[in-house]
This record gives sequence, C-alpha cells and structure tokens, in this order.
Amino acid sequence: MSTATPVTIALSKGRIFEETLPLLAAAGIEVTEDVEKSRKLIFDTNRSDVRVVLVRASDVPVYVQYGGADLGVSGLDSLIEHGGQGLYQPLDLQIAKCRVSVAVRNGFDYQLAVKQGARLRIATKYPEIARNFFAKKGVHVDMVKLYGSMELAPLTGMADAIVDLVSTGNTLKANDLVEVEPIMDISSRLVVNQASLKLKQAPLRHIIDAFAQAVAAKN
Ligand code: PRP
Ligand code: MG
Repeated sequence: MSTATPVTIALSKGRIFEETLPLLAAAGIEVTEDVEKSRKLIFDTNRSDVRVVLVRASDVPVYVQYGGADLGVSGLDSLIEHGGQGLYQPLDLQIAKCRVSVAVRNGFDYQLAVKQGARLRIATKYPEIARNFFAKKGVHVDMVKLYGSMELAPLTGMADAIVDLVSTGNTLKANDLVEVEPIMDISSRLVVNQASLKLKQAPLRHIIDAFAQAVAAKN
C-alpha cells in the first residue's frame, strides 16, 4: 500500500504509549523515532502503511470517533467521559491498569459527612464517572471540573473530596490525602472508527487480531 491513506493509530504519552508498544510489536509495527523526546505529533513506523499520532488521553476517543485516527488506545476513564459514540470497542487490552477513587484530606471524616447527608463539593477531571457514582449512592454533590492536579483542591479548601485515578498511591500520600472509596477499576481499551473498519478492513483486522493474541498470551 503506498498511495492509500495509512492506518492512523492514536495514542497518548506515558503509560498507555509505553504499554502499547509491545502490542504494536506483536502486530509487526515499530515506531522508528524516540517519541518521548520529540515535539512532533505524527510518527512514522517501520511500515509505510501505518503511522502513530500522539494526542491527549481524553482526546483519543474524539480522534477515533471523527476519523482523525482509525484506531486508538483509550483508558476506560477517558472513554466513559467521552461516551463512546461512534466507537467500536473490540478489546480490553489489560494495560495501564489503575482505579478511580474518592480521596479526601487526611482528617476529613468522609463516611460521617455521607451519613449525615452533607452536600459534598467534588473536584474532578471525571464528572461523568463522579456524577453516576454519587447519584447511585444518593449523595448530593456539586462538581468542580478540573483538568489536572486535582489533589490541590481539598488542600486549598476548594473542595471536600476529589475523584481521580490512583495507581501507586504515591501522589495521594505526597499530598496528605487518603483514598476513602474505590469507584471502579480502569484499564485501556482498543477503540476503532466504525467506518474505517469497513474501508480498511484487512489491515485493521490484522492489528486487532494481533493485539487480541498478544493480550491473551500475557493474561
Ligand atoms: C495522575 C492521577 C493522579 C496520579 C496517580 O496524575 O491524576 O494524580 O497520576 O498516580 P499514583 O497513584 O501512581 O501517584 P498525572 O500525573 O497524570 O497528572 P494530572 O492529573 O495533573 O494530569
Ligand atoms: Mg493527577
């Protein structure tokens, strides 16, 4: 394939990128540049018919939905916030595992506040996940949408609690916050543009199948 549009894979920097590399390798795809050191956003691979684009984690589902990329790797957190419209989700890749939890300042009695029916102010990058969780619990919340460094919100008195990703727990510890309630386990999912699946069926099928085999072999 030389003149046709290459298969475009959307990834985000960090754990998702690193943990997707072995899956790409299983599909015979190698990124030929040092992505973490580059300011470029489009990367060639060893295959002329495949390229990788780097986007924000929360933008991966958007690029794939609108065809900016044919497929992508998205954390379940970003996928839920996006809503999943227009996305085929064939695989749980079992990578970049972590959880979404509620955390508060050390010393804040969260359980008591919930029991007393207090209205809680929640700072989060994940309003969809947080809203659903507290609605099911019957807890009234006001949501403050943030885009990062959520840990600061309870420390500055801007919020009672945060809803955020927890992996090692080091960030919470470093900021004197405690995890008080897990909400859900997170891993990354393969997402595919539905039109691409028809137009580029053979190369996409090959990638999806290779990913599936690699995931099955590892787990
Ligand atoms: C993520 C997450 C937590 C931290 C969890 O933040 O929002 O803050 O990592 O990891 P840990 O439990 O291993 O410490 P990130 O570094 O991605 O920055 P951001 O929230 O400002 O985007
Ligand atoms: Mg953070």
